[in-house]
Amino acid sequence: MHVVIRPRVLYFGTPVVLISTVNEDGSANLSPMSSVWWIGQSCMLGLDETSKTTENIARTGECVVNLPSSEMVDAVDRLALLTGSKRVPPHKLQKKYRYEPDKFRAAGLTAWPSDEVAAPRVAECPIQLEARVDRIHPFAEEGSGVVAIDARIVRVHVEEKLLMSSNPRYIDPDKWDPLIMKFLEFYGGGQNVHPSRLAEGWGAPSRTDGVGMDPGRLSA
Ligand SMILES: Cc1cc2nc3c(=O)[nH]c(=O)nc-3n(C[C@H](O)[C@H](O)[C@H](O)COP(=O)(O)O)c2cc1C
Repeated sequence: MHVVIRPRVLYFGTPVVLISTVNEDGSANLSPMSSVWWIGQSCMLGLDETSKTTENIARTGECVVNLPSSEMVDAVDRLALLTGSKRVPPHKLQKKYRYEPDKFRAAGLTAWPSDEVAAPRVAECPIQLEARVDRIHPFAEEGSGVVAIDARIVRVHVEEKLLMSSNPRYIDPDKWDPLIMKFLEFYGGGQNVHPSRLAEGWGAPSRTDGVGMDPGRLSA
């Protein structure tokens, strides 16, 4: 039997990625996000239009999409509720976000130079995708506060141990365990792997998504 509900978010499960970009002063920003999908050699990134990441991408037209494994959940969670924007937007202040100028340091992650773009790669991420932005689209209804960023992958870096032994041009799906965000909670290998600060920021009861609430702004 099915029932009709009105969930607060529709986050059924997508990989978490860390987007690295370059700030105006040449320093790096790094942000977790999970509204991402790929087709062909491009990806679509759903981002809050007020994020520092969105601002940097709009200015530079570049980023690196770094994919953490589920083992990296600790570092990813340290980046939750941080922003590279000096002036924290009101909807983020409400969720207890704070400004952090050095998110690589805050997460305990290492910046490595990229080949094709100025934004650095995250050394610890087993998969790093250098990307150039083709278009930035409005998303959902007017005033949603979200944009969809259409980016072309121009370079793919993969940790060697993830490759198929029979064909080293391909990633072995058995060896790759992406960190997944499902309803604001972290999953790896089908299991809940870590408490989520993002869920706390939303005031969401852990693993029991609110029903019948006004979705309000769409972004995390
Ligand atoms: C696991 C996780 C997933 C997130 N997914 C998204 C997302 O898909 N889109 C988005 O705009 N923000 C998402 N966020 C929130 C951003 O990280 C947040 O807006 C952050 O302040 C962005 O940093 P920036 O302002 O320095 O770019 C997510 C956060 C976490 C921890």
